[in-house]
Amino acid sequence: MDRKKKKGTLLKKLLITYSISILISFAVLGLLLMNFFDRYFIESKKQLLIEQGKRIASDIVLAYYTGVHDKESLDNNLMVLDTFLNARIWLVDEKGTVLLVSGENEDGGLGKTIDISKLRSLYRGYYLIERGRFSNMLKEHSLTVGYPIFLGEQFKGGVFIHASLSELQKTLRDIYKITIGVILAAMLLTNIGLYLQIRRISRPLREVSEAARKIASGEFQKRLKIETNDEIEELGISFNHMAESLEKIEENRANLVANISHDLRTPMTSVIGFVEGILDGTIPPESHKKYMGIILEESKRLVKITNEILELSNMQQGAVAFDKASFEFYEAVRRRLISFEKRITDKRLRVELILEGERSYVYSDRVYLDRVLQNLLDNAVKFTPDGGSISIKAYEESDKLKLEIENTSEAIEAAELRKLWDRFHKGDASRGKHKSGFGLGLAIVREIISQLDEDITVESREGCVKFTFTVAKARE
Ligand SMILES: Nc1ncnc2c1ncn2[C@@H]1O[C@H](COP(=O)(O)OP(=O)(O)O)[C@@H](O)[C@H]1O
Ligand SMILES: [Mg+2]
Repeated sequence: MDRKKKKGTLLKKLLITYSISILISFAVLGLLLMNFFDRYFIESKKQLLIEQGKRIASDIVLAYYTGVHDKESLDNNLMVLDTFLNARIWLVDEKGTVLLVSGENEDGGLGKTIDISKLRSLYRGYYLIERGRFSNMLKEHSLTVGYPIFLGEQFKGGVFIHASLSELQKTLRDIYKITIGVILAAMLLTNIGLYLQIRRISRPLREVSEAARKIASGEFQKRLKIETNDEIEELGISFNHMAESLEKIEENRANLVANISHDLRTPMTSVIGFVEGILDGTIPPESHKKYMGIILEESKRLVKITNEILELSNMQQGAVAFDKASFEFYEAVRRRLISFEKRITDKRLRVELILEGERSYVYSDRVYLDRVLQNLLDNAVKFTPDGGSISIKAYEESDKLKLEIENTSEAIEAAELRKLWDRFHKGDASRGKHKSGFGLGLAIVREIISQLDEDITVESREGCVKFTFTVAKARE
């Protein structure tokens, strides 16, 4: 993968997108503005010119053809209008010859003949409006209005007023310049802003992807430290959570493998040792039966641990279907307790059983709930020292039934209490004396309880340990 090349593409993409949209929006705005201005300006000028044209035409008729005004005062009038409108006024006869020009004849039109086509609409009594340099006869870009002169019915040519548009063009050029300036400034500003913003985003993003790569390659301790006060910081936090879970899973996995291997190897080693002993005669025939018994016990242990591991992993994967129904719970408790009778009397334990109310119907999975009872009672019997006592209490609390199993034992520290639920966690006491356990019992119990949507807690005071769990009451 070509990483170098990919760097900064996010920035580039955004910059291009933003620049194009700025360009388009300001260009459209500028064009609209120019168009609007142009139309407004021309329209008002046009009206003015038409009005003046009309007036001049009638003045000329009066001056030239009826002799009411003298030519001098007409010239003066035209001069005034020329300055007032900033327009050149031409008098053209019916053949197109320019007879009279206001002002200094800067355009040199005097005496020339204009394009005869321009007279055509005038001849028919219409006026003419044109934009440009009047067939190149003018120096400046102008708006020209031509107005016909009629003496009675007779066409006598027309008045052409050329109003310079240089002013308008200058204004339009200014708008154009301002628009371009604004576009450039806006693009520069947004691009700078974007660049800073994106650098702020892309650096932590790069850190995230770097960290992800590290984690993928097995460095689970990698953590991010992003302080941007936004979604990226949230991403960093979630990322760290993920890394933590992964680290924990990895730790669990490593522990699990170590534990399983250890717990499987011990019984297997002794089985192999005894079988070899029997085969090579180190163990005398009269002891065979005794050792075969041990081999049987160890093999049973192996089967038990594999079953428990399988059961737990099935449950954790949600592969176990729970089958809830209503049943009488106290009966189940008594029966399960009776199954421990021999071990209880052997250890001379005192057992107290207080079941509030005669019967108690619960709604749960009978088989798995019995499994919970069996594991908890097994622990109680196993970990209570000889001559100690076990107390079992059941009572109702709102829509739940609570069962407490308390036994005498050394107090367990809070930190240790939390670890009790972990797979393969065995208390120190359990390691030597109670070899039969694998530390899976409570993990299984908790998995069942949580899948049944119930709660289980453990507490420990000086001299005793108490497990309490809930079971949903059956609805009558
Ligand atoms: N009733 C109890 N009293 C004292 N300690 C207990 C009790 N139940 C469990 N524990 C402690 O919790 C550990 C884990 O229990 P568990 O998961 O059932 O494993 P195991 O019974 O195989 O040792 C035990 O090893 C023991 O140290
Ligand atoms: Mg146990």
